[in-house]
Amino acid sequence: MTMKEDIRNKKVIVTGGLGFVGHNLVKKLVIDYQCDVTVVDNCLNSSPEVLKTIEGRYTLVKKSVIDSSWFPLMESADFIFHLACVQIAHSSSDPKMDLQVNAESTLSILEYLRSKNKGLRLKRFVYTSSASVYGSAKNYPSNEEGATKVLSHYAATKLLGENYTIIYNKQYEISTSVVRYSNVFGYGQSPNNPYCGVMGKFIHNALTGQPICIIGDGQQTRDYTFVTDAVDATILAAIHPHADGEIFNIGTGIEASVNSIADLVINTIPGVKIDYLPPRDIDNIRRRVMDITLIQSKLGWEPVVQLKDGVSRTIKWYRDNIITQ
Ligand SMILES: NC(=O)c1ccc[n+]([C@@H]2O[C@H](COP(=O)([O-])OP(=O)(O)OC[C@H]3O[C@@H](n4cnc5c(N)ncnc54)[C@H](O)[C@@H]3O)[C@@H](O)[C@H]2O)c1
Repeated sequence: MTMKEDIRNKKVIVTGGLGFVGHNLVKKLVIDYQCDVTVVDNCLNSSPEVLKTIEGRYTLVKKSVIDSSWFPLMESADFIFHLACVQIAHSSSDPKMDLQVNAESTLSILEYLRSKNKGLRLKRFVYTSSASVYGSAKNYPSNEEGATKVLSHYAATKLLGENYTIIYNKQYEISTSVVRYSNVFGYGQSPNNPYCGVMGKFIHNALTGQPICIIGDGQQTRDYTFVTDAVDATILAAIHPHADGEIFNIGTGIEASVNSIADLVINTIPGVKIDYLPPRDIDNIRRRVMDITLIQSKLGWEPVVQLKDGVSRTIKWYRDNIITQ
């Protein structure tokens, strides 16, 4: 029996489960592992439409994560995945909301778990953080032991959320882990979401005859993670005994420039124009590449979808699901 069987048929809560990564995680838990999933999501920038193929096979609690009336549901949960977030594009326009959703909700959930600790069946609480916590720290590839030097409200509150997650593990022996995602892309990323990332925007524009807009000179780099890999790593962070109390980078270890992403898209969808636009204040990270040796060595996880393959799969998904509508 593989370790992944440890999550089969279990009761799971996914906050932000209608979001891009969240709904991919929920589908995997319901379809592959027959989990009894409750999604807590206030539909801030999402809709239950994304889970229509599994309608009736999960429960939606349409509430904010900061509204504690849903907290008693945690008493019967085996696993909690906390993904609800205010995205980076909104975080500086409403910093208090960003603090409440990304960090304060995490503290409140953990406090609730602490207050009920003895009677809980919880096996693990997983917090989803971001590579943005590395900010301008110049350790390439970035590793979990290296410095964090945040440059945005979003990065500040994600770092606070992960700090609380680790503090409650060390001080109160609640089983927790943190994953730091880097530029996740793939199926189900809505081009209407202002933070759908360059990949989603490039593909959507290319398929609808609009130019690809590169912000800055396009030499800035990121580490692009395909969503199925991010979901698999997140589940492993919930079930693996060696993930308890740990923070893991989730990425590929491969640095790709925005220009190279544009080239990959244009190679599959020829004839697309590129427009270069001036940089924005949230684009202040020049390089990003993740050191993934910790999760490779501790949990035996490897990303399996190569960038080129991920781009092809995403283009196909957009063609089949977005552009035809
Ligand atoms: N997508 C990426 O590339 C990426 C990179 C780094 C980190 N992350 C982290 O991964 C997690 C998931 O990201 P995503 O890309 O799926 O984001 P997303 O914006 O697509 O989804 C977030 C979900 O949270 C919900 N939400 C927002 N505020 C809420 C509230 N107050 N109460 C309940 N639900 C609320 C939204 O309605 C949405 O469904 C987040 O924690 C994010 O910080 C994502």
